[in-house]
Amino acid sequence: MEDSPWWRDAVVYEIYVRSFADASGDGVGDLAGIRSRLPYLAALGVDAIWLTPFYPSPMADGGYDVADYRDVDPLFGSLADFDALVADAHAHGLRLMVDIVPNHSSSAHPWFQKALAAPRGSEERDRYMFRDVSDDARQEPNNWVSVFGGPAWTQVADGQWYLHLFAPEQPDFNWRNPEVRQEFLDILRFWLDRGIDGFRIDVAMGLIKAPGLPDTDPGFGAKSPIWSRPEVHDIYRDWRRVLDSYPGVRAAVGEVWTDSAEDLALYVRPDELHQSFNFAWLEAPWSATAFRKVIDETLRAVPAPTWVLSNHDVVRHTTRYGEGAPDPSVGLARGHAALLAMLALPGSAYLYQGEELGLPEVKNLPPEARQDPIFFRSKGEVLGRDGCRVPIPWSGTAPPYGFGTGGSWLPQPVEWAGLTAERQAADPSSTLAFYRRALAARRSLRETLPDAMAWLEAPGDALFFSRGRLICAINCGTDPVRLPPHEQVLISSGLVDGQDLPPDTAAWLLTVE
Ligand code: GLC
Repeated sequence: MEDSPWWRDAVVYEIYVRSFADASGDGVGDLAGIRSRLPYLAALGVDAIWLTPFYPSPMADGGYDVADYRDVDPLFGSLADFDALVADAHAHGLRLMVDIVPNHSSSAHPWFQKALAAPRGSEERDRYMFRDVSDDARQEPNNWVSVFGGPAWTQVADGQWYLHLFAPEQPDFNWRNPEVRQEFLDILRFWLDRGIDGFRIDVAMGLIKAPGLPDTDPGFGAKSPIWSRPEVHDIYRDWRRVLDSYPGVRAAVGEVWTDSAEDLALYVRPDELHQSFNFAWLEAPWSATAFRKVIDETLRAVPAPTWVLSNHDVVRHTTRYGEGAPDPSVGLARGHAALLAMLALPGSAYLYQGEELGLPEVKNLPPEARQDPIFFRSKGEVLGRDGCRVPIPWSGTAPPYGFGTGGSWLPQPVEWAGLTAERQAADPSSTLAFYRRALAARRSLRETLPDAMAWLEAPGDALFFSRGRLICAINCGTDPVRLPPHEQVLISSGLVDGQDLPPDTAAWLLTVE
């Protein structure tokens, strides 16, 4: 594939591997399943796919607890399946990115097992974050809490504690240890040698903790002893050198949660990561003012922005946008409109599997089916992320809807019979047909659109912006708004009545050059 900086304006499709397509018939998605669906992804019109972790893992956190960074879990296939997937993806014109999980390993990782067997103060323990409690008045070494709820520390047999910012089965590495750094440079090379196009870096802002591990307040702010410490950037400078040493363009996108676009921008300095996820839009409510603020702040701070509406960690955006609305079904219309706005902006867009089918969050999963550690650690008070991870309905009229032949690891709702890819592919008014049209329209304009966008004056709770000949209009208000002058409506997410744009709708207009 050519040497273009493809990541700059790529549409990347996130595959949550466990839930995409199951070729082996065990109810869990796998690499061979993904391979069989590459024609679907190519026809959808995305540029790249990102695979969530498929490495050997006890699956305490759906595979984000990695026991071996250089292999494929038998649940998902083999290294040979992986190589075949890379080759096939490239043959379909799709780039392939893999998830790398550097903040923590699985507690089943051989290094952690050795650390447990070794005494305090040993080299083996120094690869992780083991500490003693010096102050009799407190139980744990400091007040840090796990992102999944509960303390971030677990005590081992000899009385020491180890840090886990996530589940106890996910011990944090000590990134001040040169051996850890070297190991990950080798892991990057292992996958780059197999021909991948890039990495998505899990919890990219968490690797370095402040010396002395002082107590903290919640939040991602500049003073946090946990998140976005200045020294974390040295790690990505090392990684960038490795990426740049390979032929072609190998890119890295960081999962970076910050309080500000300025902090986010630090990760994408020229010698660091190519991209970092920009979660600000995903956190914004359905409101033109909120969207405009996010877009302005992002474009001001970040030279190569990314846009994300959904992923495997958050409530699906079609459901979010319906919350609090008099009729929650409006969420789907708003989701379509937001897609058009996202695809019209400069930069790259990340889609999450199933959003092209308009899948809603599944809120009523039975407790015995749930697997997210957040659900268990909160004793069921927080439902967690299983509701956006329900396997994809491909075809047929009954579960597992062509996902595989052996059921599905999370139950699929009966209402999904109407949402299968097969059914939607045959229906021009479906969400799938709309996504295909929108992605095709973006491709058709790709060569001609300038990088910069400009705001146009818009009435009510609407936004109008232009990029060269293209004007994108989105109406977040409750009344129709008059569209700006244009020659042609290229695509719209709902019926555009004459010159008016209805509520919860977006349109792409072309003007004369
Ligand atoms: C990231 C992943 C999430 C995982 C966590 C711990 O936030 O996206 O799914 O649980 O890291 O690895």
